[in-house]
Amino acid sequence: MPPRRANLALLAHLLASLVTAATRAAATSYSVLDYGAVADGRTDCAGAFLGAWNAACADEDEGPAAVVVPAGEYLVSRARFGGPCRGGAVSVDIAGTLLAPTPYAGVQLWIVFQNVDGVSVNGGTLDGRGQAYWACRRDGGGSACPAATRSLTIYRSRNVVVRGLTSLNSAGIHVTVQASSGVAVVDTVVSAPGDSPNTDGIHIKQSSDVTVRSARIGTGDDCVSMVEGSSDVWIQGVACGPGHGISIGSLGDTPEQAAVRNITVKAVALAGTTNGLRIKSWAKANRGIVDGVSFSDVVMRDVRNPIIVDQNYCPGNVSCPTEVTRTQLCVLQQ
Ligand SMILES: *[C@@H]1O[C@H](CO)[C@@H](O)[C@H](O)[C@H]1NC(C)=O
Ligand SMILES: *[C@@H]1O[C@H](CO)[C@@H](O)[C@H](O)[C@H]1NC(C)=O
Repeated sequence: MPPRRANLALLAHLLASLVTAATRAAATSYSVLDYGAVADGRTDCAGAFLGAWNAACADEDEGPAAVVVPAGEYLVSRARFGGPCRGGAVSVDIAGTLLAPTPYAGVQLWIVFQNVDGVSVNGGTLDGRGQAYWACRRDGGGSACPAATRSLTIYRSRNVVVRGLTSLNSAGIHVTVQASSGVAVVDTVVSAPGDSPNTDGIHIKQSSDVTVRSARIGTGDDCVSMVEGSSDVWIQGVACGPGHGISIGSLGDTPEQAAVRNITVKAVALAGTTNGLRIKSWAKANRGIVDGVSFSDVVMRDVRNPIIVDQNYCPGNVSCPTEVTRTQLCVLQQ
């Protein structure tokens, strides 16, 4: 082939690949506003959010589909974003604030992603408006109130990234990762009062390969809690306080529980918390095991119990079990 024609062929090839790249990069966007959302903080936008999600989830075009939530306040009564998605990856790009219904409606899970693979949730504020619920807990006691609503739940999912989320005043746990693998929660802010009950920041259960990186968590319960079946968890760069610290457990409440294994907690700072690093299990016969926990590069200031391993966990000290815990603790480093 003469040199000039070779160059032309090369040029054509380059142009073709540029066009392909551009097509691939172009995400199809589905704005919740086009599905009826009204950013007035009063109109229930649950249907609109689900409409946009269903469209993005069904999008089979090349390139990722995006659900877009523009700036503004959206009341969302509850939303369960289900997969699997036909076209694969979906991003949910949130510039606005989602408001939970108030007074509390008694839903256990507010915003849920389930059975999804390859979803990223970028930005956004979730305001759980838990104040009325906490007042119920304070005034009426636990049994008089419905279960606490958890703000964000990732359930039965894989390859999920939650980036840049702000979670305010969840009535219960702020972010739950359950029955999932390959989940990263990065650049997160969690904020609730130090006396708000059971408002854990990030809660991990029956999940593996979970990363929590770069988070500022102030709340009324554990900043991060890892319970049965948590494995290959990496926690780095968390500032915790107020709160109850970074906890493994509670464990051993029921006889058959999956192990907690390979937990790395690194470069964390705790200030003004009740506990620092804690492992807690009930004094009940059970087959639990905690194996391979590493805490390193931890700074604590004004922490009541910096390191605590409690095998007689019994908050409230009422009807406490007295069996010897069988939850075994192994390979505790640092
Ligand atoms: C422990 O978990 C980390 C991720 O947090 C992973 O990179 C590492 O391979 C795991 N180690 C073992 C022995 O499975
Ligand atoms: C828990 O209650 C028992 C008696 O019911 C009491 O002896 C014990 O001191 C209490 N422990 C705490 C930490 O309050």
